[in-house]
Amino acid sequence: MTKIEALPPERRPSHVAIIMDGNGRWARKRLLPRSAGHAAGISAVRRVVAAAREIGLQYVTLYAFSTENWRRPKTEIAFLMGLLRQYFDSDLKQLKADNVRVRIIGGRDGLEKDIAGLVADAQDMTAANTGLHLSFAFNYGGREEIVAAARNLARQVRDGKLDADAIDCTMFASSLQTAGIPDPDLLIRTSGEHRLSNFLLWQSAYAEFVFIDTLWPDFSGEDLHKALAEYAGRDRRFGGVDSASDTPPRPLRAGAD
Ligand code: IPE
Ligand code: IPE
Ligand code: MG
Repeated sequence: MTKIEALPPERRPSHVAIIMDGNGRWARKRLLPRSAGHAAGISAVRRVVAAAREIGLQYVTLYAFSTENWRRPKTEIAFLMGLLRQYFDSDLKQLKADNVRVRIIGGRDGLEKDIAGLVADAQDMTAANTGLHLSFAFNYGGREEIVAAARNLARQVRDGKLDADAIDCTMFASSLQTAGIPDPDLLIRTSGEHRLSNFLLWQSAYAEFVFIDTLWPDFSGEDLHKALAEYAGRDRRFGGVDSASDTPPRPLRAGAD
């Protein structure tokens, strides 16, 4: 697999965020229960972490459970919670050994005590690691995150600790759960859906989106690679103009000027 160094520096994403979608449809195609799709999705998580480390990505954020996913049947929610437990039980040691720094963004309210404990342990155990920064968005909602940040700043203003005029985008961003993590450069969604579903709403303001039809349990290192190649071909202007537009347009035919 090509290393990230093979791409020119300005064409390398530092942060790739992924909406892991399509587990249920993957299972349905095989006449299996939805839970089988979620279980298969864990292998895809392992593949993507391995590929990200091999390529040399700095930040990967995976959307694992949204604030809206509580609307699912209780049995499915219980299965997903169980999978998170299993994943940390089985993989945390290796992640630590692989110098991966784990972070979980999302609300702790509503999570069972042992899960909240596991999440805290995963972060503490890997806090000193300096390799891939791997975030899981679990019980995460972009709107909830923004509202919590606004509430927190409002409280500081109320208590006289903060001047409301000092609030700017930089301060706001550092009040979010992703504080210290750069905005995603590339956002991938699998399974052919073309929406954000409440993922990283603030942070994705200038992300490049790549939507692919592959269902999450089938996602491979090669798919990640293709998305990176597509990203490398994109022209990010951030509201400005690209360098080519400094050149006057060519006349339609010789002498037309
Ligand atoms: C993504 O797959 C996993 C979670 C949202 C937890 P889905 O479960 O949404 O699968 P589909 O979209 O129904 O196929
Ligand atoms: C988004 O997928 C959430 C995660 C991948 C964790 P959903 O399957 O829940 O999103 P919708 O309902 O299709 O928008
Ligand atoms: Mg889905």
